[in-house]
Amino acid sequence: MLTVGILISGSGTNLQAILDRVADGSLRARIGLVVSNRPGVLGLERAAAAGVPTQVIEHRGYARREDFDAALVDTLRRAGVELVVLAGFDRLITRVLLGAFRDRVINIHPALLPAFKGLHAQRQAVEYGVRVTGATVHFVDEDVDHGPIILQGAVAVDPDDTVDTVTARVLEVEHRLYPAAIQLFADGRLEIAGRRVRVHGGAPALPPPQLRPW
Ligand code: GRF
Repeated sequence: MLTVGILISGSGTNLQAILDRVADGSLRARIGLVVSNRPGVLGLERAAAAGVPTQVIEHRGYARREDFDAALVDTLRRAGVELVVLAGFDRLITRVLLGAFRDRVINIHPALLPAFKGLHAQRQAVEYGVRVTGATVHFVDEDVDHGPIILQGAVAVDPDDTVDTVTARVLEVEHRLYPAAIQLFADGRLEIAGRRVRVHGGAPALPPPQLRPW
């Protein structure tokens, strides 16, 4: 079974969704380790409650990003990790991690990439006035929020929405997308072909966007 390592920095609701799907048997993978770069965050408690080993590696203890990544690589390798899942991890990763886990690092972003890269994507979407936003799971490459896209899910935005309501709606999609993407990887069904990701056997059925008339 695929061994997954999850990197977090905070509340870890995506981590929780993944743990829940492993617990109910709908995600057939083993979560070998959860690493946080911040001590005391809720995500660490979620992992511990699920019986998953945790480790804190504080980025502040390292002079360079590359040194921090080398420590991550060492820890992830010791835990036998084969797929690295970034779940609200707030550090930029470098070639040190990407080189050690080539095509084996994935991320979730709370917008329909390539729209609204970077921080506060939900706020960017609301302020821009888009009618549709969503979430994207993608392979990580050297550029931020840029690698080949695995799955996307959409949600409607209407003029009465706030950043909070959109964030909550997008999170529901995130919590369905991320376990589904991990399962596809675990089943060996993802093939990167340039910018595109071929999903062998077809992409899983995801709920359609709840588009409303305006
Ligand atoms: C999510 O919105 C995710 O898309 C982004 O960071 C947030 C993490 O939330 N990368 P959580 O810690 O999983 O609750």
